[in-house]
Amino acid sequence: MSPPSVHTNPRSANGITASIGESSSFESTMTSIWMASYPSIDDSRVLLGDITSDVVVVGAGITGLLTAWRLCNAGYRVVVLEAGLAGQKNTGASTGNLYGSTSEMATLLAKWGEDVLREVTASRMHAIAGVDALVTEYGIDCGFVRTPLQWSIESNAPAERQRYARELAAYRVAGLSPHPSPGQLPFPLTDSFSVEGQAQLDPYRLCRALLGLLSRHAALFEQTQVIDIDAAASCVRTATGKVHANHIVLATHSPAGFNLLQAEMEVYREYGIAVPVQTPLPIGIHWVTDSGRSLRSVPEQQAPLLVVVGEKHRTGEWSPTQDPAGRLLKYAQERFVVNGPVAASWSAQQFKPADGLPYIGSSAHENVWVATGFQADGLTWGALAAELIVQGIEGRQPDDLAHLLSPLRITPLKSAGGWARTNATVIKHLLGDRLKAEVDDGSEIAPGSGRVVGKGEGRCALYRDETGMLHAMSPVCPHLKCIVQWNGDANSWDCPCHGSRFGPTGELLEGPALNGLARKQTPS
Ligand code: FES
Repeated sequence: MSPPSVHTNPRSANGITASIGESSSFESTMTSIWMASYPSIDDSRVLLGDITSDVVVVGAGITGLLTAWRLCNAGYRVVVLEAGLAGQKNTGASTGNLYGSTSEMATLLAKWGEDVLREVTASRMHAIAGVDALVTEYGIDCGFVRTPLQWSIESNAPAERQRYARELAAYRVAGLSPHPSPGQLPFPLTDSFSVEGQAQLDPYRLCRALLGLLSRHAALFEQTQVIDIDAAASCVRTATGKVHANHIVLATHSPAGFNLLQAEMEVYREYGIAVPVQTPLPIGIHWVTDSGRSLRSVPEQQAPLLVVVGEKHRTGEWSPTQDPAGRLLKYAQERFVVNGPVAASWSAQQFKPADGLPYIGSSAHENVWVATGFQADGLTWGALAAELIVQGIEGRQPDDLAHLLSPLRITPLKSAGGWARTNATVIKHLLGDRLKAEVDDGSEIAPGSGRVVGKGEGRCALYRDETGMLHAMSPVCPHLKCIVQWNGDANSWDCPCHGSRFGPTGELLEGPALNGLARKQTPS
């Protein structure tokens, strides 16, 4: 295959294009700083009609795009279908950090042992090297830099000191050569170690560049929602067409449609903000773990910008008192000189696997490939998933890692706690939410917010738009019939059972559901 040219769009000359209020009560744009800093583009092509291909990749985040790119390089005909625009879901809302470790190294060591920890770490470092090589070879302008990861605590609490010691030991076992380091944060730390050779980039620019690379070699369709996956017929269907392919890759975070893996993952929503600060934070991955914060800078802006990520809750369990963005802003104000309004705030989904490792490989159907359970470590797992899935499609003998990460693995002892929590959550919402009765008529719903009202068959998900008009939908999630809940920070209806999300007026934002919420007549 001849080397493709790189097609990237220039950054906005003005830097940040989204700007929101000054305090914790700002109006959230829910657009990540990476997307807010990038020119708005929609040159999407929608699938019309039926086509045949070797592989259809559903989802155009980092996993789908890198899988498609590697498949094209291996000579396969590839179709990519993306429900929205490439990179605009969880990849574009990620922190842009790539690291060989995972966010819970000591837990991984305790569950899986030293050999697995070393193998997982080496494979993740290999995946980062693959992204480095791709970015270098094609001159992709996505701010990729090699940088240290700094793991720190602020507290002197014995439990935190013990956790620090356990993580440091696990990093040593993993072969990452952590070294104690004072770090470069402008506030006191109790303990801190650094690991060299990790990486950082702008995840949205990477996706747009990958889309450009792929444009000459694959058939790319955005704004094209898959509404049915027929594994037996090896076909996926959209509202306006069909793709027949020998292999179906579900690079959709949680596998689209029904999949037993959904019963093995806890789902969380995590929030991030970007704020201007007086002094730029040095480039690097900065984890302050006892306060649950990940910090980084945003290069190439007119003013230094600090990204603060943390504050999460189970998806579908948002509460108006949580104010995640406000808490992140307060954290920043207490440690940095914040000298302007919040530039962007956003959130992303995390799927936490029951046994601590993601599920990557062919699922119950040999021709259907999935990649999920990345927790907070999605960019690196996504890059690794692309390598493993392409190897699998090529029929190369599965290696130890492919067995380890197989979606078909059965790990009852390692998974017991996760299964119990996931199933307790599903039962609580599947049964308990049906018994709740909000008997008001929705007249108290403020513009720009929503609430589930009524009971039984009359239950409605009501959203009042900014003009005051009420929109009514069924609150029953079309995936497996749990009751959705309003999320006022993400401006979405979120399903507490397996994480499907819907826009204010019911349109599908992310699966596993394949359809939006059914419209209902607005109560008079
Ligand atoms: Fe499974 Fe809603 S996502 S029931």
